[in-house]
Formats: sequence, structure tokens, C-alpha cells
Amino acid sequence: MVTPSSLHDLRGERSADLTGAALERVKNVRPGVAVTLLLSADPRLLMASLNLQLRENLHWDAVEADGAWRVIVRHREDAAPADVLALLAADHKRIDGLLARALSLLNRGETGAAVPLLREFAAALKRHVGFEDGELAAGLGASRAAADEPPAVMLREHGEIGQQLLLVEEILATDPVDGSELAVYCAILSGTLAKHEYREEHSLFPLWRSALMRRGSDERADLLEKAVAALRGRDVSGAAAL
Ligand SMILES: [Fe+2]
Ligand SMILES: [Fe+2]
Repeated sequence: MVTPSSLHDLRGERSADLTGAALERVKNVRPGVAVTLLLSADPRLLMASLNLQLRENLHWDAVEADGAWRVIVRHREDAAPADVLALLAADHKRIDGLLARALSLLNRGETGAAVPLLREFAAALKRHVGFEDGELAAGLGASRAAADEPPAVMLREHGEIGQQLLLVEEILATDPVDGSELAVYCAILSGTLAKHEYREEHSLFPLWRSALMRRGSDERADLLEKAVAALRGRDVSGAAAL
């Protein structure tokens, strides 16, 4: 649940000071805590800049009324995804974030702290790929795609990602875990994932979004609900998945 947001009237700020003043107000936005800004000009550029500075953690809704702009700023985790593909794109970021934090720990020699993060990463990645391979590929026609079309490319790349993840998991299962070797395989997987996610978000998801728009709103809502449950590791009845 998001608490009611505090209101900050920045209409009197000089333009040279506005970004700093706004950043000060929104930098502590976190899941469950929203902030409202009152601004005298179109906030699009300002919000894009703040979002970049805060590692794209912001989600905002802006409304213009009586010559002022009211912008409600939330943490991106509090924003309801527009559809199943927006949810998957947000999940890419979450998964990448886990791997990046683990890699950074490995590079500092903190293998013990990296291992649980990598276990969480591996489980989240398998759930993500499993949902794309299962529910989406079956429902939106990947099996009927030609070999060079985005759905078929996705399935092939999932095979490659699965093999690289297996190597990471094999090292995680050893005792003691070799942090240097683990860092090498994680870095390779990180590069593969980045390319794969880019291709999905720019080539495949637009195709699937068109396919989704031809479905009924109930079917779209049902798919989104299934995705939320699957990515959390639960089935729609709420039981934890194996
Ligand atoms: Fe994928
Ligand atoms: Fe994906």
C-alpha cells in the first residue's frame, strides 16, 4: 500500500535551482512512499532527468490544472504494470539488478555475500524464462514463428542462457565456492542477458503487444495476473511453486 504523498510546492523555485530542489524531495521515494510536486512548467524533461539520476527507480503521473502541474512520484515497484510485457520489462531490471549487485560483491572478493544473491537471481531468471517459454510463447504464437523471427530467436537465446546459468549454478554448488571463477561466468551471463533483454524489449514485445491488443481485456487481465503470480514463484491460487 502506498501512503498518502506529501506535497511540495516548487512553483517559486528559480529554474537554475529547480532540479536540485526537486531531487531533494524525490530522492527518498521508496516502495510504499509517494511524493507530490507542484510545478509551474511541463515536468517531462525534469522528471526524465531525476529518473536518470535515481537509476530509473521513479514512476510518475502528471496532471495540468490552472497553469500548474501536479506530479505524483512513486517508486517504480508501486506502479501497476500496464500489461504483461511491461511487467516482464520491469522484471528484466530486477533480475539485472540482482546480478549486478552480486558481480560487484564478487569483484570486491565478497563471495559469501554474493552467493545468496546469485541463488535468488537464478531462481528469478528461471521463473522469468519459464513464463516466457510457456504461457507467452504458447499463447502468442512463438512455436509458429520462422527461425529468424523474434519469437524463435527468443527461444534459441533462452537455451543459451540456460546453459550459461547451469555453469553458474554448478560453481554455486561447490564448497568452497571459487569467487573468481564465478565472477567470470556471471560476467559472461550478464552480457548475454543484456543483449537478449534488449532484443526482447525492442523486437519481440512490440509484436506481442499487437497480438495482445487483439485479445479481449479479460484475457489480457488474466494473463497479467498469471504473470504476476509466476514471477513471484506462486501459482494463481497462491500456493508456492516448487
Ligand atoms: Fe527472455
Ligand atoms: Fe524476458
